[in-house]
Amino acid sequence: MYSYCCFLVFLFNICLCEDIINNKRFPSDFIFSVGTSAYQIEGGWNEDGKSPSIWDTTVHSNPAFIEDSSNGDIACDSYHKIEEDVAIIKELGVTHYRFSIAWTRILPNGIGEVNEAGVAHYKKLIKELKNNGISPFVTIFHWDIPQVLQDMGGILNSSFVSWYSDYARECFNRFGDDVGYWITFNEPQQICTGGYGSGVFAPAVKSEGLLEYLCAYQVVKAHAKAWHIYDSEFRSKQNGKISIALDTLAFVPASSSPSDKEAANRMLHFTLGLYANPIFLGDYPYVIKARIAARSAAEGRNRSRLPEFTQDEIDYIRGTHDFFGLNAYSAFVIEAIEDPPVQNPPSTWQDQGVNIYIPSHWEGTAQYHFVVVPWTIRPLLNWIKNTYNNPGIIITENGYPSKGDKDDRREYYIRGYLSYIRDAMIEDDVSVLGYSVWSLMDNFEWTLGYTLKYGLFNVDFSSANRTRTIRPSGEFYKKVIQTRCLVE
Ligand code: NOJ
Repeated sequence: MYSYCCFLVFLFNICLCEDIINNKRFPSDFIFSVGTSAYQIEGGWNEDGKSPSIWDTTVHSNPAFIEDSSNGDIACDSYHKIEEDVAIIKELGVTHYRFSIAWTRILPNGIGEVNEAGVAHYKKLIKELKNNGISPFVTIFHWDIPQVLQDMGGILNSSFVSWYSDYARECFNRFGDDVGYWITFNEPQQICTGGYGSGVFAPAVKSEGLLEYLCAYQVVKAHAKAWHIYDSEFRSKQNGKISIALDTLAFVPASSSPSDKEAANRMLHFTLGLYANPIFLGDYPYVIKARIAARSAAEGRNRSRLPEFTQDEIDYIRGTHDFFGLNAYSAFVIEAIEDPPVQNPPSTWQDQGVNIYIPSHWEGTAQYHFVVVPWTIRPLLNWIKNTYNNPGIIITENGYPSKGDKDDRREYYIRGYLSYIRDAMIEDDVSVLGYSVWSLMDNFEWTLGYTLKYGLFNVDFSSANRTRTIRPSGEFYKKVIQTRCLVE
């Protein structure tokens, strides 16, 4: 009887697909997911033994850091709403839910003693997901390092690699039997350039071209160690996959001239290659190493601002991936410029040596410099395929920012991305294994607070209950997943 019903559902889906859509059907094992992160949704910032992270301390000590002076103290109150959250995730019909674990709940001192209440929270969430047929897709670190570790230098402390990997081991140990996909770090570029270069994100250190490169070096080493721990101690029992989620804009060369193409390629190496080359190929991209070394020498330094990996480190880091996690949202046009003059203090833009702009005919959004150009994902996916030997790619984030309750272009945006992703799969033979919409629901959008919304579900932040209501774009995504087709 059960299989007869499944057959009817299958037929129904095919009919739906053929009736009202184009032929861009996604494979039956394609991962359809939706994402969130701990600080952005959980609230309960000091409950059940949790210690403050750098985001707690930054927003508390400096409310002006956030556009609406808000914070994540309550956020979507997800810490208290496991059943409610899983119910709306289930309503979408996704195969996976991507969420992050707060380090400060598991190890309030950053290292050492485990907080069992924190472990119990995520066990409960994972159990609820599994009971509802949803697979957990877990990010170990989504920007919220414990403040106690920050007080000792945070990511820049050479002990960070062991602090982080001990925490990752604890996660594998406690949750790994039920987790099929792990992400070690979410968006190291934002962690490092935002946190230690431009200083726009916590811990808000400004040191362009210096500490941001040291941060990148540390994150790559910590990632590799966590991957090796999983590979040698857990993989045979738990059989999951583990990688890193890297973010980049797509870069469109301003013209077909070799120098503009080279400049766009160089930008991809600065955003993706800085992390992906060591992990997928071994060592930093040559173009980055050479440029930063030359500019450092011209600045009178006796070593490059980009720390060097030893040969042992290169060999240890190379190959520490099971898929390519990509967060992709928007694009810029890139134009080559003559090498900028050397200056002290250095600047990342000067290291990159390009001019960037957004053409006026590209559709904008409520977020500054964020444009709707879904077609740019196809060349980006091809670049990853060609540069990193055709890895399986999971789009770990893609989503549309709006203000107020404006949802009308979100569906257009998601459909566009899925359509070009499918083209890349069918026509260019790019291996894309999955896609995760950011975000399940509106949440704390870092320095923009609650002013910007990414949710497939609206959250009413004025109600104590934080009521979640599905948006038309959520209904659309639900239909796509149901049919595995791009419904019109
Ligand atoms: C990047 C980050 O991973 C996530 O935390 C953020 O909210 C979204 N993209 C949107 O900016």
